[in-house]
Amino acid sequence: MEGEPKQVTGYLLFSLATAVIGSLQFGYNTGVINAPEQKLRSFFNDTWMERYGEPISPSICTTVWSVSVAIFSVGGMAGSFSVGVMANGLGRRRSMFVVNILAVIGGLLMGGSTICSSYEMVIAGRLVIGLFCGLFTGLTPMYVGELSPTSLRGAFGTLHQLGVVVGILIAQIFGLESLLGSQKLWPLLLALTVIPAVLQCILLPFCPESPRFLLINLKQEEQARKALVRLRGSEDVSKDMDEMKEESAKMALEKKVTIAELFRSAAYRQPLLIAVMLQLSQQLSGINAVFYYSTGIFQSAGVKQPIYATIGAGIVNVIFTIVSLFLVEKAGRRTLHLLGLGGMAVSALLMTISLLLKSFTFMSYVAILAVMLFVAMFEMGPGPIPWFIVAELFSQGPRPAAMAVAGCCNWTANFLVGMSFPKLVELCGPWVFLIFTAFLVFFFIFTFIKVPETKGKTFDEIAQGFGGPPPAPSSSSTPAEAPASTTISSRSPDREK
Ligand code: GLC
Repeated sequence: MEGEPKQVTGYLLFSLATAVIGSLQFGYNTGVINAPEQKLRSFFNDTWMERYGEPISPSICTTVWSVSVAIFSVGGMAGSFSVGVMANGLGRRRSMFVVNILAVIGGLLMGGSTICSSYEMVIAGRLVIGLFCGLFTGLTPMYVGELSPTSLRGAFGTLHQLGVVVGILIAQIFGLESLLGSQKLWPLLLALTVIPAVLQCILLPFCPESPRFLLINLKQEEQARKALVRLRGSEDVSKDMDEMKEESAKMALEKKVTIAELFRSAAYRQPLLIAVMLQLSQQLSGINAVFYYSTGIFQSAGVKQPIYATIGAGIVNVIFTIVSLFLVEKAGRRTLHLLGLGGMAVSALLMTISLLLKSFTFMSYVAILAVMLFVAMFEMGPGPIPWFIVAELFSQGPRPAAMAVAGCCNWTANFLVGMSFPKLVELCGPWVFLIFTAFLVFFFIFTFIKVPETKGKTFDEIAQGFGGPPPAPSSSSTPAEAPASTTISSRSPDREK
């Protein structure tokens, strides 16, 4: 790795930036629904009045509101689960292009809801936007991972999370009452997601298809070489090509692994367990309890202007994602993930103390500090790493299926935390963050024992670490005849991490 040219060209950066528009969309739509809550509630009431001539009951209003929020994650689950089929069927680039149709439909549904006096359109729009975001949480990390040179795969992988956090911050700022979070303009705030979708569709035709997809899936060697020459800015791409060909030969037996095969095959058990656990560690850390409900948390800790503390958390979020981007190729994924989980556990304890002792006025500052530290530590590791490490843990064959399973676990856990947190607060009061502390400690121990370092390794080397991809097909067996599992049993178990 040392002394190797960094292989960063303007074209590579342009392609990555285009893909990351999808991450920005995910962040924006995650954060956007928070601020205009009261405006949406009064719109539900107005619509109800218009239709039935009486005000909406508080419980129906809360149900409509909760469904509008939560259905986003349901869409996300479905979308992330479909990533494998799309990415293999249409290719990475074309999938991203096509999926943007969903953003346009979702944005228009939400934006047109007041004109049509229909809160159903808000709900339908949120579902479609969730589908769209679910697909992008798989497509962007996959495309970025496949385009990046090995030595910078972690740093560029972090760009997905950077897109997410910038998206959240933009949503928090635009959602201010004085900007688009007003009684009149909130439909525009929700519809704004159409603009980046159109922009990405304009830019994508100038980006290459993933060279790994071209070579390994489509066997278009010349096209793959051409794409690599442009991306690396050098005629000599033999090193990348050789590495991909080697992977391609070894992968010939397990091309296009389906989700069922992923679960059946012993070779994928370890990486799949790690991928899923890392996704769960991201969501069960409680990060979205903060992002969905921070204003309430700050209020209950006695903070006077909670909305600004929330935006402060958004800014810390962006800053520490950038810090992680620069550290990840030096410190490694494993170390940063451990540091992040440990730091979050400490911050959650601090938050508990500040909520318990809120009768002391200075404790509101401790609460702000604890939330900022919690967010900062999240972005050191648990924020960015789970998203890109899945693409690293799997080679070309099983990658799309693995991204689908991992993404779906992430969205499901996200949904569960989002739905249950208000209830948990009711049940546990100021002790609620101790639940997350327990999860954090558990995931710290898991990461310490199970997660290997993937920094600086090629996809092939990482697969070798788990027992290796199946050996290249011999003349006596054709891919159709030999299921992946038969070749896996011959592997020596001592190569497993
Ligand atoms: C990650 C999580 C997302 C969360 C965000 C906060 O991308 O997947 O759920 O809202 O980080 O920065």
